[in-house]
Amino acid sequence: MAIEVSSVPDTTASLEPLEKIDAYEHWQKSEGAPIVSGFYIQDLNALELGRWERKGGSGAIVNLEGTGGVNDMHVVEIAPGGASVPDRHIYESMIYVLSGRGSTQVWYDDKRKASFEWGPGSLFAVPINASYRIFNSSGVQPARYVAVTNAPTIISLFHNHGFVFDNPYQFEDRFGGEHDFFAGEGTLHRGRTLETNFVPNVHTIQLHDWKARGGGGTNVMIELAQNSMGAHVSQFKPGTYKKAHRHGPGAHVIILDGVGFSLLWREGDESRQKCDWRPGAVVVPPENWFHEHFNSGPDPARYLALRFTGLHFKQRGAHQSGGADVSVKLGGAQIEYEDEDPAIHELFERELASHGAVCRMKGLVPWCKSAL
Ligand SMILES: [Fe+2]
Repeated sequence: MAIEVSSVPDTTASLEPLEKIDAYEHWQKSEGAPIVSGFYIQDLNALELGRWERKGGSGAIVNLEGTGGVNDMHVVEIAPGGASVPDRHIYESMIYVLSGRGSTQVWYDDKRKASFEWGPGSLFAVPINASYRIFNSSGVQPARYVAVTNAPTIISLFHNHGFVFDNPYQFEDRFGGEHDFFAGEGTLHRGRTLETNFVPNVHTIQLHDWKARGGGGTNVMIELAQNSMGAHVSQFKPGTYKKAHRHGPGAHVIILDGVGFSLLWREGDESRQKCDWRPGAVVVPPENWFHEHFNSGPDPARYLALRFTGLHFKQRGAHQSGGADVSVKLGGAQIEYEDEDPAIHELFERELASHGAVCRMKGLVPWCKSAL
């Protein structure tokens, strides 16, 4: 005997789906500056910019795939003799100067301003929510900088422009208006970690041995302005490459000096993304993708990484770089040379030959046939 089922009216039939709001995307579009996306950028110096009122000059907002949406990069150019309008925001910002000279004023209280000068290669962070103005001191040359910010995370989380851009809170635990906040050498901690608020030139900053990452590499980790985000500078010798490793999203690797390439791949994926680079290039390794940097030119290669996570303040929920120089076989995040696909070394040898350079990996990579 059939059982009769009384029909239940579908109360959801006439309801509209809940709108998905991307507050960061709305903000980005409302700024009016060009929006750039992609896997990597070959030359930040040549990136085409458009008018960006908030920055008092021209600029572009860059979202590279490897950020996974956690952070972004603002490329800004201030005209000769120009200055930005005062700005402040609840998101963090680390600024690296590509070219030009100028000064920056920073304040919570406009009667107590910290002021400092910068030039090509300078690195600094505007303390969170401090007001700031950036001045180009040259009457002839434009000044171009990049700022890596956690605006995407902060704007998405609070989705309220008044809270993010017009908030009176002063983070006195980070910045007390000290006039010498951006002066001084900083403090070097164990583990090659420099705590400072200003680096005059990342091209010449003192680096320290980091044998475990290979490639005869040297490095300094940089913690700026009590930020949650962090930076580091690494250098490796001509004819060498560093060991592959992986970590969380958002590390903007900006090439400072040298010629070479990076390989990036998902675990188990045969095909690898290859990014050729020279100074001014930037690549962001996607979350958990292995990546490896190769110096195929005649000079040392040096890069600046501006990361989503720093070392001093643990970011809960964010993928940390723990075990960054420990083998994956021991639970770390690094592939030792002897565990690497031999095809990688073959590619490196071919690249070196095309630049007339020689391999210096003898004794490090078991199948390296170089005499050096
Ligand atoms: Fe990395």
